[in-house]
Amino acid sequence: MRLRVSACGAAFVVDGQVVWDDYLDHRQFVLGDDADVAMRWFLRWRDRESVPERHRHTVAALLANDVLVAEGSQRDAQERAVLHAWGRWGPIARAYHFATRTTRGSRFPAESAEGPEPVGTFRDTERIPLPSAEQAQWRHRDLLDVLRQNQSHREFGPEAVPLSSLGALLQVSSEHSTELYPVVQNVEGLKPGVYHYDGHTHELAMVGDPVNGPDLVAACGDQPWVAAAGLVVFYTSVLWRHDSARGYRTLQLDAGHRNQNLSLAATGLGLRTAFTSTIRDELVEELIGCDPTTELAIGGAVVGTA
Ligand SMILES: Cc1cc2nc3c(=O)[nH]c(=O)nc-3n(C[C@H](O)[C@H](O)[C@H](O)COP(=O)(O)O)c2cc1C
Repeated sequence: MRLRVSACGAAFVVDGQVVWDDYLDHRQFVLGDDADVAMRWFLRWRDRESVPERHRHTVAALLANDVLVAEGSQRDAQERAVLHAWGRWGPIARAYHFATRTTRGSRFPAESAEGPEPVGTFRDTERIPLPSAEQAQWRHRDLLDVLRQNQSHREFGPEAVPLSSLGALLQVSSEHSTELYPVVQNVEGLKPGVYHYDGHTHELAMVGDPVNGPDLVAACGDQPWVAAAGLVVFYTSVLWRHDSARGYRTLQLDAGHRNQNLSLAATGLGLRTAFTSTIRDELVEELIGCDPTTELAIGGAVVGTA
């Protein structure tokens, strides 16, 4: 029988101990020194009997707990299927997915209701009150009409985006689990620059200098069509709001929800938009001035006139 170390587990150092995380079956084991030696012996498929006698007890324990896997076993078949499907995304992506995959026995503790202040209120910066959504020039008010017309656009006209339209876009797409940072190039009555949207007061806070076209295009993954847009609304999410690691999935979905509202509103206002997830996180973080350890760049809505 040949054995090798499981390809669907990961070792972490936790409180000075090496912990093996079997992310397929959601089990964790503290690994002792002998386990380390035994696992190094089976980094590749090797005959079980090849390991020195003194390690055989540990090998049996590691095999019984799927830290070591027997060739041709059910676990081996499961791992081969996972590696086949997830191989190109590397070990971390599959570790995260399967570690946060919920099972029939999963429990869902209530998320903590209250948390610290929203990411930033930027009270000491220039703040611009925005017109409400009711004040905007809606071209289409029939939802079915809007749904039918809603599509991604990557060509924009030279006209400035009306401020009332920006007010409406942000008002209908803001919810405090996703932060909105409009990077303005061409909006009526608004200085070009980087802003943060405060959904509590329906105001913009100026948080950064104007961004030139090439820098904005670089932040949006070298997509040249972005340069002609009136603005790009970057979405970020804040970690603290979710207690479990599964929160990382939820915050992505939340940003998607926000963007769908914005996209439909843009269509209703006769504007054009396309969402982009092809961003350079680091450049977006620098542009909007957020702390990447606590606030995650998710993507951006590129908005312009027809
Ligand atoms: C999560 C997500 C990410 C996207 N990222 C990009 C992108 O980086 N660049 C781009 O040009 N379009 C992007 N799009 C737009 C899609 O290409 C577009 O939605 C798709 O082609 C369907 O076209 P439609 O929106 O007009 O129906 C993205 C769409 C979604 C939902």
